[in-house]
Amino acid sequence: MSLDYAVHHVHSIHISLRRSRLTMLNPCFSLGGMPQNWRFAEALQKTAPLLSSNHANFIHVKDSFFHTSRFAHCNFIYIVVITEQMTVPGLHPIHVNFKQETKTMMLQHEITEALSHRPTKVWSGEPLLGSSYGQEEIDAAVNCIRESMDPTVGFGFSAPPIPDFEQAFAKYCGAKYATAVNSCGPAIDIIMRYLKLQPGDEVIVPSCNYVASPLSVYGHGGQVIWGDVLPDTLQLDPEDVERKMSPRTRAIFPVHMNGLAAPIDDYIAIAEKHPHPVHGPAKVISDAARACGGGYKGNKIGKAGWATVFSFHTMKNMTTLGEGGMITTDDPDLDKFAHSVRMYGIDINAWGTSNVMTKVQAAVGLVQLSKLDSFIDGRRRIAHARNRMLADVPGLILPVEPADCYHSYYLYTCRVKDEWAGAKRDELMATLDKEFGFRCVIANPPVYAGRKQLAEHTRGQSNPVTEHLAKTIFCVPLHPDMPEADNKYICAAIITAMSRL
Ligand SMILES: Cc1ncc(COP(=O)(O)O)c(C=O)c1O
Repeated sequence: MSLDYAVHHVHSIHISLRRSRLTMLNPCFSLGGMPQNWRFAEALQKTAPLLSSNHANFIHVKDSFFHTSRFAHCNFIYIVVITEQMTVPGLHPIHVNFKQETKTMMLQHEITEALSHRPTKVWSGEPLLGSSYGQEEIDAAVNCIRESMDPTVGFGFSAPPIPDFEQAFAKYCGAKYATAVNSCGPAIDIIMRYLKLQPGDEVIVPSCNYVASPLSVYGHGGQVIWGDVLPDTLQLDPEDVERKMSPRTRAIFPVHMNGLAAPIDDYIAIAEKHPHPVHGPAKVISDAARACGGGYKGNKIGKAGWATVFSFHTMKNMTTLGEGGMITTDDPDLDKFAHSVRMYGIDINAWGTSNVMTKVQAAVGLVQLSKLDSFIDGRRRIAHARNRMLADVPGLILPVEPADCYHSYYLYTCRVKDEWAGAKRDELMATLDKEFGFRCVIANPPVYAGRKQLAEHTRGQSNPVTEHLAKTIFCVPLHPDMPEADNKYICAAIITAMSRL
Protein backbone atom coordinates (compact mmCIF):
# COMPACT_ATOMS: atom_id res chain seq x y z
CA MET A 1 0.00 0.00 0.00
CA SER A 2 1.35 3.44 -0.80
CA LEU A 3 -0.60 6.58 0.06
CA ASP A 4 0.17 10.17 -0.76
CA TYR A 5 -0.85 12.99 1.53
CA ALA A 6 -0.18 16.67 1.18
CA VAL A 7 1.14 17.72 4.54
CA HIS A 8 1.37 21.38 5.40
CA HIS A 9 3.73 23.17 7.70
CA VAL A 10 6.50 20.66 7.36
CA HIS A 11 9.96 21.78 6.47
CA SER A 12 11.33 18.43 5.42
CA ILE A 13 10.73 14.80 6.12
CA HIS A 14 12.44 11.60 5.23
CA ILE A 15 10.66 8.28 5.19
CA SER A 16 13.07 5.79 6.66
CA LEU A 17 11.08 2.57 6.30
CA ARG A 18 12.78 1.16 9.31
CA ARG A 19 11.14 -1.81 10.86
CA SER A 20 9.75 -1.25 14.27
CA ARG A 21 11.23 -3.28 17.03
CA LEU A 22 7.77 -3.80 18.44
CA THR A 23 7.57 -7.38 17.39
CA MET A 24 4.03 -7.94 18.62
CA LEU A 25 2.64 -5.36 16.25
CA ASN A 26 1.84 -6.23 12.71
CA PRO A 27 1.54 -4.54 10.27
CA CYS A 28 3.66 -1.58 11.15
CA PHE A 29 4.38 1.76 9.57
CA SER A 30 7.69 3.33 10.21
CA LEU A 31 8.21 6.97 9.51
CA GLY A 32 11.44 8.75 10.20
CA GLY A 33 12.05 12.39 9.61
CA MET A 34 12.65 15.83 10.92
CA PRO A 35 9.34 17.39 11.76
CA GLN A 36 9.50 20.73 13.45
CA ASN A 37 7.96 19.68 16.76
CA TRP A 38 5.01 17.83 18.16
CA ARG A 39 2.59 20.05 16.27
CA PHE A 40 3.75 18.16 13.21
CA ALA A 41 2.08 15.04 14.54
CA GLU A 42 -1.14 16.94 15.09
CA ALA A 43 -0.95 18.40 11.59
CA LEU A 44 -0.51 14.93 10.16
CA GLN A 45 -3.49 13.65 12.09
CA LYS A 46 -5.66 16.46 10.77
CA THR A 47 -4.43 16.15 7.20
CA ALA A 48 -4.41 12.44 6.74
CA PRO A 49 -7.67 10.68 7.64
CA LEU A 50 -5.95 7.35 8.04
CA LEU A 51 -3.66 8.78 10.65
CA SER A 52 -6.47 10.06 12.79
CA SER A 53 -8.05 6.64 13.12
CA ASN A 54 -8.08 4.97 16.49
CA HIS A 55 -5.34 2.69 15.37
CA ALA A 56 -2.89 5.47 14.73
CA ASN A 57 -0.53 6.83 17.27
CA PHE A 58 2.69 8.72 17.21
CA ILE A 59 5.73 7.72 19.10
CA HIS A 60 8.40 10.18 19.96
CA VAL A 61 11.61 8.41 19.07
CA LYS A 62 14.73 9.93 20.39
CA ASP A 63 17.91 7.95 20.82
CA SER A 64 15.94 4.91 19.73
CA PHE A 65 13.73 5.05 22.79
CA PHE A 66 10.32 3.49 22.32
CA HIS A 67 7.42 3.77 24.75
CA THR A 68 6.18 0.35 23.82
CA SER A 69 3.63 -0.27 26.56
CA ARG A 70 1.45 2.69 25.54
CA PHE A 71 0.87 1.24 22.13
CA ALA A 72 0.46 -2.43 22.74
CA HIS A 73 -3.16 -2.31 21.61
CA CYS A 74 -2.44 -0.64 18.25
CA ASN A 75 -2.60 -2.21 14.87
CA PHE A 76 -0.65 0.61 13.26
CA ILE A 77 2.26 2.56 14.59
CA TYR A 78 3.58 5.80 13.16
CA ILE A 79 7.03 6.63 14.27
CA VAL A 80 7.98 10.26 14.07
CA VAL A 81 11.61 11.04 14.64
CA ILE A 82 12.04 14.44 16.18
CA THR A 83 15.44 16.00 16.19
CA GLU A 84 16.69 18.85 18.33
CA GLN A 85 18.33 20.75 15.49
CA MET A 86 15.16 21.09 13.46
CA THR A 87 14.56 24.70 12.51
CA VAL A 88 11.49 26.11 10.84
CA PRO A 89 12.47 28.54 8.11
CA GLY A 90 9.90 29.09 5.31
CA LEU A 91 7.32 26.39 5.98
CA HIS A 92 5.79 25.03 2.83
CA PRO A 93 3.61 22.09 1.76
CA ILE A 94 5.32 18.89 0.74
CA HIS A 95 4.20 15.42 -0.22
CA VAL A 96 4.80 12.51 2.06
CA ASN A 97 4.60 8.91 0.97
CA PHE A 98 3.40 6.53 3.62
CA LYS A 99 4.50 3.07 2.80
CA GLN A 100 3.19 0.11 4.64
CA GLU A 101 5.82 -2.13 5.97
CA THR A 102 4.47 -5.37 7.26
CA LYS A 103 7.21 -7.27 8.91
CA THR A 104 9.09 -9.33 9.78
CA MET A 105 12.31 -11.20 9.21
CA MET A 106 11.49 -14.80 8.36
CA LEU A 107 10.99 -17.17 11.24
CA GLN A 108 12.93 -20.43 11.40
CA HIS A 109 10.04 -22.62 10.24
CA GLU A 110 9.43 -20.24 7.29
CA ILE A 111 13.10 -20.43 6.37
CA THR A 112 13.04 -24.24 6.46
CA GLU A 113 9.87 -24.31 4.37
CA ALA A 114 11.22 -21.79 1.84
CA LEU A 115 14.49 -23.70 1.42
CA SER A 116 12.59 -26.86 0.56
CA HIS A 117 11.47 -25.20 -2.72
CA ARG A 118 14.67 -24.79 -4.69
CA PRO A 119 14.02 -22.61 -7.78
CA THR A 120 13.99 -24.39 -11.10
CA LYS A 121 15.78 -21.42 -12.71
CA VAL A 122 19.36 -20.50 -11.90
CA TRP A 123 18.89 -16.82 -11.05
CA SER A 124 21.72 -14.36 -11.42
CA GLY A 125 22.09 -10.87 -9.94
CA GLU A 126 21.44 -9.37 -13.37
CA PRO A 127 19.14 -11.84 -15.18
CA LEU A 128 19.90 -12.18 -18.90
CA LEU A 129 16.43 -10.97 -19.83
CA GLY A 130 15.38 -8.06 -17.64
CA SER A 131 11.84 -7.63 -18.95
CA SER A 132 9.41 -10.23 -20.23
CA TYR A 133 7.88 -10.90 -23.62
CA GLY A 134 4.40 -12.05 -24.58
CA GLN A 135 2.36 -12.61 -27.69
CA GLU A 136 2.04 -8.80 -28.10
CA GLU A 137 5.77 -8.39 -28.78
CA ILE A 138 5.77 -11.38 -31.12
CA ASP A 139 2.79 -9.95 -33.02
CA ALA A 140 4.36 -6.50 -33.20
CA ALA A 141 7.60 -7.92 -34.58
CA VAL A 142 5.90 -10.20 -37.09
CA ASN A 143 3.54 -7.46 -38.29
CA CYS A 144 6.44 -5.07 -38.73
CA ILE A 145 8.35 -7.66 -40.75
CA ARG A 146 5.29 -8.37 -42.93
CA GLU A 147 4.74 -4.68 -43.64
CA SER A 148 8.41 -4.14 -44.44
CA MET A 149 8.64 -7.10 -46.85
CA ASP A 150 7.10 -4.96 -49.59
CA PRO A 151 9.89 -3.75 -51.95
CA THR A 152 8.39 -0.26 -51.88
CA VAL A 153 8.53 -0.15 -48.08
CA GLY A 154 11.61 -1.98 -46.74
CA PHE A 155 13.20 -1.84 -43.31
CA GLY A 156 15.33 1.26 -43.50
CA PHE A 157 15.64 4.98 -43.04
CA SER A 158 14.22 5.47 -39.56
CA ALA A 159 10.70 5.05 -40.89
CA PRO A 160 7.64 4.42 -38.70
CA PRO A 161 7.30 3.01 -36.12
CA ILE A 162 10.65 4.52 -35.07
CA PRO A 163 9.31 8.11 -34.74
CA ASP A 164 6.24 6.72 -32.98
CA PHE A 165 8.43 4.97 -30.45
CA GLU A 166 10.47 8.15 -29.94
CA GLN A 167 7.38 10.27 -29.36
CA ALA A 168 5.82 7.76 -27.00
CA PHE A 169 9.07 7.46 -25.06
CA ALA A 170 9.50 11.25 -24.78
CA LYS A 171 5.92 11.55 -23.57
CA TYR A 172 6.41 8.78 -21.03
CA CYS A 173 9.44 10.60 -19.59
CA GLY A 174 7.91 14.06 -19.79
CA ALA A 175 10.68 15.23 -22.13
CA LYS A 176 10.19 17.23 -25.33
CA TYR A 177 12.34 15.06 -27.60
CA ALA A 178 13.70 11.55 -27.88
CA THR A 179 16.15 10.00 -30.34
CA ALA A 180 16.22 6.22 -30.73
CA VAL A 181 19.63 4.64 -31.30
CA ASN A 182 21.12 1.18 -31.47
CA SER A 183 22.32 1.09 -27.85
CA CYS A 184 23.12 3.32 -24.90
CA GLY A 185 26.87 3.49 -25.67
CA PRO A 186 26.35 5.36 -28.97
CA ALA A 187 23.79 7.61 -27.23
CA ILE A 188 26.56 8.69 -24.85
CA ASP A 189 29.04 9.09 -27.72
CA ILE A 190 26.61 11.33 -29.62
CA ILE A 191 26.28 13.60 -26.60
CA MET A 192 30.05 13.75 -26.09
CA ARG A 193 30.46 14.62 -29.77
CA TYR A 194 27.95 17.43 -29.36
CA LEU A 195 30.00 18.87 -26.48
CA LYS A 196 33.12 19.03 -28.72
CA LEU A 197 35.43 18.33 -25.80
CA GLN A 198 38.87 19.94 -26.07
CA PRO A 199 41.97 18.47 -24.42
CA GLY A 200 41.79 19.30 -20.72
CA ASP A 201 37.99 19.68 -20.68
CA GLU A 202 36.69 17.81 -17.65
CA VAL A 203 33.64 15.64 -17.16
CA ILE A 204 32.75 14.41 -13.68
CA VAL A 205 31.49 10.82 -13.68
CA PRO A 206 30.87 8.49 -10.73
CA SER A 207 33.63 6.04 -9.93
CA CYS A 208 31.03 3.42 -8.96
CA ASN A 209 29.82 3.01 -12.49
CA TYR A 210 29.72 0.94 -15.64
CA VAL A 211 32.53 1.62 -18.07
CA ALA A 212 30.35 3.30 -20.74
CA SER A 213 30.38 6.99 -19.71
CA PRO A 214 34.03 7.28 -18.60
CA LEU A 215 35.21 5.47 -21.72
CA SER A 216 33.22 7.85 -23.88
CA VAL A 217 34.65 10.94 -22.15
CA TYR A 218 38.13 9.49 -22.58
CA GLY A 219 37.52 8.47 -26.19
CA HIS A 220 36.30 11.95 -27.10
CA GLY A 221 39.41 13.60 -25.75
CA GLY A 222 38.07 14.80 -22.40
CA GLN A 223 39.52 14.35 -18.95
CA VAL A 224 37.64 11.95 -16.69
CA ILE A 225 37.23 13.27 -13.16
CA TRP A 226 35.92 10.62 -10.83
CA GLY A 227 33.26 11.68 -8.36
CA ASP A 228 32.85 9.49 -5.32
CA VAL A 229 29.42 8.16 -4.38
CA LEU A 230 27.07 8.17 -1.41
CA PRO A 231 27.41 4.87 0.47
CA ASP A 232 23.70 4.27 1.08
CA THR A 233 22.38 5.01 -2.43
CA LEU A 234 25.51 4.55 -4.60
CA GLN A 235 24.68 7.85 -6.33
CA LEU A 236 27.28 10.42 -7.35
CA ASP A 237 27.92 12.46 -4.20
CA PRO A 238 26.93 16.14 -4.82
CA GLU A 239 29.40 17.36 -2.20
CA ASP A 240 32.24 15.53 -3.89
CA VAL A 241 31.09 16.94 -7.24
CA GLU A 242 31.25 20.44 -5.81
CA ARG A 243 34.78 19.81 -4.48
CA LYS A 244 35.84 18.67 -7.93
CA MET A 245 34.30 21.45 -10.02
CA SER A 246 36.95 23.49 -11.82
CA PRO A 247 37.04 26.18 -14.54
CA ARG A 248 37.46 23.27 -17.00
CA THR A 249 34.32 21.33 -15.97
CA ARG A 250 32.10 20.92 -19.05
CA ALA A 251 29.66 18.30 -17.81
CA ILE A 252 28.47 16.39 -14.76
CA PHE A 253 27.49 12.90 -15.78
CA PRO A 254 25.77 10.95 -12.98
CA VAL A 255 24.34 7.45 -13.32
CA HIS A 256 20.91 6.62 -11.92
CA MET A 257 22.57 3.80 -10.14
CA ASN A 258 20.94 0.39 -10.10
CA GLY A 259 17.45 1.74 -10.76
CA LEU A 260 17.35 4.60 -8.27
CA ALA A 261 17.33 8.27 -9.32
CA ALA A 262 20.44 10.36 -8.75
CA PRO A 263 19.81 13.81 -7.18
CA ILE A 264 19.85 15.69 -10.49
CA ASP A 265 18.63 19.02 -9.09
CA ASP A 266 21.61 19.12 -6.71
CA TYR A 267 24.05 18.77 -9.62
CA ILE A 268 22.22 21.44 -11.62
CA ALA A 269 22.51 23.84 -8.67
CA ILE A 270 26.24 23.10 -8.37
CA ALA A 271 26.77 23.59 -12.12
CA GLU A 272 25.04 26.94 -11.97
CA LYS A 273 27.14 28.01 -9.00
CA HIS A 274 30.41 27.27 -10.82
CA PRO A 275 29.89 28.17 -14.49
CA HIS A 276 32.54 27.40 -17.10
CA PRO A 277 34.12 30.71 -18.23
CA VAL A 278 33.24 30.11 -21.90
CA HIS A 279 30.49 27.49 -22.03
CA GLY A 280 28.51 28.49 -18.93
CA PRO A 281 27.12 25.98 -16.41
CA ALA A 282 28.29 22.42 -16.90
CA LYS A 283 25.71 20.29 -18.69
CA VAL A 284 24.02 17.71 -16.48
CA ILE A 285 23.75 14.51 -18.49
CA SER A 286 22.45 11.41 -16.79
CA ASP A 287 22.86 7.76 -17.54
CA ALA A 288 19.55 5.96 -16.98
CA ALA A 289 20.65 2.73 -18.64
CA ARG A 290 19.60 0.92 -15.46
CA ALA A 291 16.70 3.10 -14.41
CA CYS A 292 14.13 3.24 -17.19
CA GLY A 293 10.72 3.67 -15.54
CA GLY A 294 12.10 4.98 -12.26
CA GLY A 295 10.99 8.31 -10.79
CA TYR A 296 12.47 11.50 -9.38
CA LYS A 297 10.51 14.24 -7.61
CA GLY A 298 7.19 13.10 -9.01
CA ASN A 299 8.43 12.82 -12.61
CA LYS A 300 9.87 9.97 -14.58
CA ILE A 301 13.61 9.75 -14.92
CA GLY A 302 14.45 11.31 -18.31
CA LYS A 303 12.92 14.70 -17.65
CA ALA A 304 15.36 16.40 -15.29
CA GLY A 305 18.75 17.58 -16.53
CA TRP A 306 19.95 18.57 -19.97
CA ALA A 307 19.98 15.08 -21.49
CA THR A 308 19.36 11.51 -20.36
CA VAL A 309 20.48 8.30 -22.03
CA PHE A 310 18.72 4.93 -21.76
CA SER A 311 19.56 1.35 -22.61
CA PHE A 312 17.18 -1.32 -23.87
CA HIS A 313 19.87 -4.00 -23.75
CA THR A 314 18.60 -7.49 -22.98
CA MET A 315 19.19 -7.20 -19.22
CA LYS A 316 17.47 -3.86 -18.74
CA ASN A 317 14.06 -2.85 -17.33
CA MET A 318 12.59 -2.77 -20.85
CA THR A 319 14.26 -4.31 -23.88
CA THR A 320 14.17 -4.05 -27.65
CA LEU A 321 15.25 -7.48 -28.87
CA GLY A 322 18.62 -7.43 -27.15
CA GLU A 323 20.00 -3.98 -27.98
CA GLY A 324 18.70 -0.44 -28.23
CA GLY A 325 18.97 2.97 -26.63
CA MET A 326 17.39 6.41 -26.40
CA ILE A 327 18.34 10.02 -25.70
CA THR A 328 15.80 12.36 -24.12
CA THR A 329 16.19 16.13 -23.93
CA ASP A 330 14.29 19.41 -24.05
CA ASP A 331 17.06 21.01 -26.13
CA PRO A 332 15.96 21.18 -29.81
CA ASP A 333 19.52 21.70 -30.97
CA LEU A 334 20.78 18.55 -29.27
CA ASP A 335 17.78 16.66 -30.60
CA LYS A 336 18.47 17.78 -34.16
CA PHE A 337 22.14 16.91 -33.80
CA ALA A 338 21.36 13.45 -32.37
CA HIS A 339 18.88 12.62 -35.13
CA SER A 340 21.41 13.67 -37.75
CA VAL A 341 24.59 12.03 -36.50
CA ARG A 342 22.91 8.71 -35.78
CA MET A 343 22.75 8.49 -39.60
CA TYR A 344 26.08 9.83 -40.95
CA GLY A 345 25.39 13.44 -40.03
CA ILE A 346 22.64 13.88 -42.60
CA ASP A 347 21.27 17.46 -42.75
CA ILE A 348 23.91 19.14 -40.61
CA ASN A 349 27.07 18.14 -42.45
CA ALA A 350 28.61 16.77 -39.24
CA TRP A 351 30.70 13.66 -38.81
CA GLY A 352 28.56 10.67 -37.97
CA THR A 353 28.23 6.97 -38.43
CA SER A 354 25.26 4.63 -38.41
CA ASN A 355 23.68 4.21 -34.98
CA VAL A 356 20.10 3.62 -36.03
CA MET A 357 17.54 1.48 -34.31
CA THR A 358 15.63 -0.94 -36.53
CA LYS A 359 11.91 -0.72 -37.23
CA VAL A 360 11.30 -4.12 -35.66
CA GLN A 361 13.03 -3.04 -32.45
CA ALA A 362 10.91 0.10 -32.33
CA ALA A 363 7.73 -1.93 -32.86
CA VAL A 364 8.68 -4.16 -29.95
CA GLY A 365 9.82 -1.11 -27.96
CA LEU A 366 6.35 0.42 -28.20
CA VAL A 367 4.84 -2.71 -26.67
CA GLN A 368 7.50 -2.93 -23.99
CA LEU A 369 6.98 0.73 -23.13
CA SER A 370 3.26 0.10 -22.64
CA LYS A 371 4.20 -2.63 -20.15
CA LEU A 372 7.06 -0.81 -18.46
CA ASP A 373 5.07 0.39 -15.45
CA SER A 374 3.84 -3.13 -14.81
CA PHE A 375 7.43 -4.42 -15.02
CA ILE A 376 8.45 -1.83 -12.44
CA ASP A 377 5.47 -2.78 -10.26
CA GLY A 378 6.67 -6.38 -10.42
CA ARG A 379 10.20 -5.39 -9.44
CA ARG A 380 8.92 -3.27 -6.56
CA ARG A 381 6.62 -6.05 -5.34
CA ILE A 382 9.55 -8.47 -5.15
CA ALA A 383 11.81 -5.85 -3.55
CA HIS A 384 9.24 -4.85 -0.92
CA ALA A 385 8.51 -8.46 0.00
CA ARG A 386 12.23 -8.96 0.31
CA ASN A 387 12.64 -5.84 2.44
CA ARG A 388 10.20 -7.39 4.89
CA MET A 389 11.69 -10.88 4.87
CA LEU A 390 15.23 -9.57 5.30
CA ALA A 391 14.42 -6.81 7.78
CA ASP A 392 16.87 -6.73 10.67
CA VAL A 393 19.09 -9.58 9.47
CA PRO A 394 22.22 -8.91 11.53
CA GLY A 395 25.01 -7.43 9.44
CA LEU A 396 22.86 -6.95 6.32
CA ILE A 397 22.15 -3.46 4.93
CA LEU A 398 19.19 -3.31 2.54
CA PRO A 399 18.64 -0.90 -0.38
CA VAL A 400 17.16 2.47 0.47
CA GLU A 401 14.61 4.59 -1.39
CA PRO A 402 14.87 8.31 -0.59
CA ALA A 403 11.51 10.07 -0.25
CA ASP A 404 11.83 11.92 -3.58
CA CYS A 405 12.67 8.80 -5.59
CA TYR A 406 10.65 5.97 -7.06
CA HIS A 407 13.04 3.04 -7.20
CA SER A 408 12.81 0.84 -10.28
CA TYR A 409 14.92 -1.86 -8.57
CA TYR A 410 16.93 -2.74 -11.63
CA LEU A 411 19.21 -4.34 -9.08
CA TYR A 412 18.53 -5.20 -5.47
CA THR A 413 21.71 -3.78 -3.98
CA CYS A 414 22.64 -5.01 -0.51
CA ARG A 415 25.69 -4.42 1.61
CA VAL A 416 27.33 -6.32 4.43
CA LYS A 417 28.44 -4.42 7.51
CA ASP A 418 31.96 -3.00 7.40
CA GLU A 419 33.47 -5.75 9.58
CA TRP A 420 32.53 -8.27 6.90
CA ALA A 421 33.95 -6.29 3.98
CA GLY A 422 36.07 -8.29 1.56
CA ALA A 423 36.64 -11.94 2.47
CA LYS A 424 33.38 -12.49 4.38
CA ARG A 425 31.29 -10.82 1.66
CA ASP A 426 33.05 -13.00 -0.89
CA GLU A 427 32.42 -16.08 1.24
CA LEU A 428 28.73 -15.16 1.44
CA MET A 429 28.46 -14.81 -2.34
CA ALA A 430 30.29 -18.10 -2.87
CA THR A 431 27.94 -19.91 -0.46
CA LEU A 432 24.86 -18.50 -2.17
CA ASP A 433 26.22 -19.67 -5.51
CA LYS A 434 27.67 -23.08 -4.65
CA GLU A 435 25.29 -24.23 -1.93
CA PHE A 436 22.06 -22.42 -2.73
CA GLY A 437 22.40 -22.17 -6.51
CA PHE A 438 21.99 -18.46 -7.31
CA ARG A 439 24.50 -15.77 -8.18
CA CYS A 440 24.88 -12.26 -6.89
CA VAL A 441 26.86 -9.55 -8.69
CA ILE A 442 29.05 -6.72 -7.46
CA ALA A 443 27.69 -3.66 -9.26
CA ASN A 444 30.00 -1.90 -9.47
CA PRO A 445 33.61 -1.92 -8.32
CA PRO A 446 35.59 1.25 -9.18
CA VAL A 447 35.68 1.46 -12.97
CA TYR A 448 39.44 2.03 -13.01
CA ALA A 449 40.00 -1.24 -11.11
CA GLY A 450 39.05 -3.15 -14.25
CA ARG A 451 40.29 -0.81 -17.05
CA LYS A 452 43.99 -0.14 -17.26
CA GLN A 453 43.76 2.79 -19.68
CA LEU A 454 41.24 4.55 -17.42
CA ALA A 455 43.43 3.85 -14.37
CA GLU A 456 46.37 5.45 -16.17
CA HIS A 457 44.25 8.31 -17.48
CA THR A 458 43.03 9.18 -13.95
CA ARG A 459 46.17 8.28 -12.00
CA GLY A 460 46.32 9.99 -8.61
CA GLN A 461 42.55 10.30 -8.15
CA SER A 462 41.07 8.30 -5.30
CA ASN A 463 37.52 7.46 -4.29
CA PRO A 464 37.52 5.92 -0.83
CA VAL A 465 33.76 5.35 -0.61
CA THR A 466 33.56 3.51 -3.95
CA GLU A 467 36.67 1.51 -3.11
CA HIS A 468 35.19 0.41 0.20
CA LEU A 469 31.76 -0.29 -1.33
CA ALA A 470 33.41 -2.68 -3.76
CA LYS A 471 34.11 -4.91 -0.73
CA THR A 472 30.65 -4.69 0.83
CA ILE A 473 28.02 -4.60 -1.92
CA PHE A 474 26.33 -7.60 -3.48
CA CYS A 475 23.29 -7.44 -5.75
CA VAL A 476 20.75 -10.17 -5.22
CA PRO A 477 18.79 -11.62 -8.19
CA LEU A 478 15.51 -9.86 -8.90
CA HIS A 479 13.16 -10.09 -11.86
CA PRO A 480 9.59 -8.80 -12.31
CA ASP A 481 8.37 -12.34 -13.02
CA MET A 482 10.24 -14.00 -10.17
CA PRO A 483 7.84 -16.41 -8.42
CA GLU A 484 7.12 -15.63 -4.78
CA ALA A 485 8.52 -19.02 -3.76
CA ASP A 486 11.86 -18.21 -5.45
CA ASN A 487 11.96 -14.86 -3.69
CA LYS A 488 11.34 -16.58 -0.35
CA TYR A 489 13.99 -19.18 -1.12
CA ILE A 490 16.53 -16.46 -1.92
CA CYS A 491 15.77 -14.60 1.32
CA ALA A 492 15.90 -17.79 3.38
CA ALA A 493 19.25 -18.66 1.79
CA ILE A 494 20.67 -15.21 2.58
CA ILE A 495 19.53 -15.40 6.21
CA THR A 496 21.00 -18.90 6.54
CA ALA A 497 24.29 -18.07 4.85
CA MET A 498 24.70 -14.85 6.82
CA SER A 499 24.07 -16.56 10.14
CA ARG A 500 27.20 -18.60 9.46
CA LEU A 501 29.50 -15.64 8.77
C1 LIG B 1 25.12 2.29 -16.33
C2 LIG B 1 25.23 1.80 -17.76
N1 LIG B 1 25.48 2.68 -18.73
C3 LIG B 1 25.56 2.31 -20.01
C4 LIG B 1 25.41 0.99 -20.39
C5 LIG B 1 25.56 0.62 -21.82
O1 LIG B 1 24.35 0.22 -22.35
P1 LIG B 1 24.28 -0.49 -23.78
O2 LIG B 1 24.64 -1.92 -23.58
O3 LIG B 1 22.87 -0.31 -24.23
O4 LIG B 1 25.24 0.22 -24.68
C6 LIG B 1 25.15 0.04 -19.41
C7 LIG B 1 25.02 -1.37 -19.78
O5 LIG B 1 25.00 -2.28 -19.04
C8 LIG B 1 25.06 0.45 -18.05
O6 LIG B 1 24.83 -0.41 -17.07
